[in-house]
Amino acid sequence: MEPLNLDELEGLARARLPADIWDFIQGGAGGEWTLAAAAAQYRRHVLRPRVLVDVSRCDTTVHLLGDELAAPIGVAPMAYHQLAHPEGESATARAAGAAGALFVVSIFAGRTLEEIAAAATGPLWLQLYWLRRREFLAELAERAERAGYRALVLTVDAPKVARRLRDIRNSFALPSDVNAVNLDPALTATAHRRTAGGSGIEAHSREQFDATIGWADLAWLRERSALPLVLKGVLTAEDAALAVAHGVDALVVSNHGGRQLDGAIPALAALPEVVAAVPDGFPVLLDGGVRRGTDVLTALALGARAVLVGRPVLWGLAHAGAAGVGTVLDLLRTELTEAMVLAGRPTLAHLDPTALAPWPRGG
Ligand code: FNR
Repeated sequence: MEPLNLDELEGLARARLPADIWDFIQGGAGGEWTLAAAAAQYRRHVLRPRVLVDVSRCDTTVHLLGDELAAPIGVAPMAYHQLAHPEGESATARAAGAAGALFVVSIFAGRTLEEIAAAATGPLWLQLYWLRRREFLAELAERAERAGYRALVLTVDAPKVARRLRDIRNSFALPSDVNAVNLDPALTATAHRRTAGGSGIEAHSREQFDATIGWADLAWLRERSALPLVLKGVLTAEDAALAVAHGVDALVVSNHGGRQLDGAIPALAALPEVVAAVPDGFPVLLDGGVRRGTDVLTALALGARAVLVGRPVLWGLAHAGAAGVGTVLDLLRTELTEAMVLAGRPTLAHLDPTALAPWPRGG
């Protein structure tokens, strides 16, 4: 069966993956309250369609840090795509390229940055966590630049991996054939170790992530790379303003898909204050809970330049490898285009807060 939307794909993917890997992908932190809130937040808005507008041509093209993208929908950084499909990030890169979509590659990719670049035909960004051995960051930044990556994304909402109860319950550890090949193997050994009543991923982060870094440390990274620097995991106006003051080039408004601070504000709810705190035209992206074209439209109407999609990409990989990721990106773009046409807003410039109204009380 070919899925007709991402809800259908989710069911197909679940049937194909072992339960502990499914839990690692799907799960959130703590009581999964923030995870549940993400999808609900989109339903707090309804669309205000305009009529008698010429919608015979609909244009979803967007420009982002010097690249033109076919649609404002990219792939969020996620560790270890091989958990979902043996080809891992190489398959994702092929599919993203074919769709003209941005692919943000995780520092914990299971394929080398160079292999991924060889498979890609679209823009790649490299996501980093700040490791205690910061010389690895400098080396990765340099390799990324040489391989043609277009930006660095520093994830700032994870001084450690949060307590994800499903992974603790499952004593989750990485399978032996899935490795963070861009790092020294010794660095990720702990992630492979199965400990009763613990998560290998969380233990690994406690050992390797540098929880001491602050705004002043961004200069160290900037000095080592000419690539634009994006911060991922900003949820407040205060931090957005600090990011701009420290020369950051773009932001991703994100609560890490509900996998870090449980109880954190939904990314969509944080978006307006972040957009208001940065200069006009400063690129603000959003991720978390984007599952249909109208979700993309809603985020764009509230000021996002583009959205990133996480878990559904792994569902696509599990379902049908690169073709499955292609299905995810195509479905979202098809749904976005249809929503723009039916809402009488045929270009991204037509998307502003007047496209939305609050869900009617009592509705
Ligand atoms: C992630 N995410 C993530 N983020 C990051 O900056 N670096 C990473 O390595 C990972 N790894 C990762 C693994 C898995 C399995 C998931 C599901 C997520 C978070 C990701 O980039 C993004 O913020 C969320 O997944 C977006 O939410 P949705 O689309 O999954 O709801």
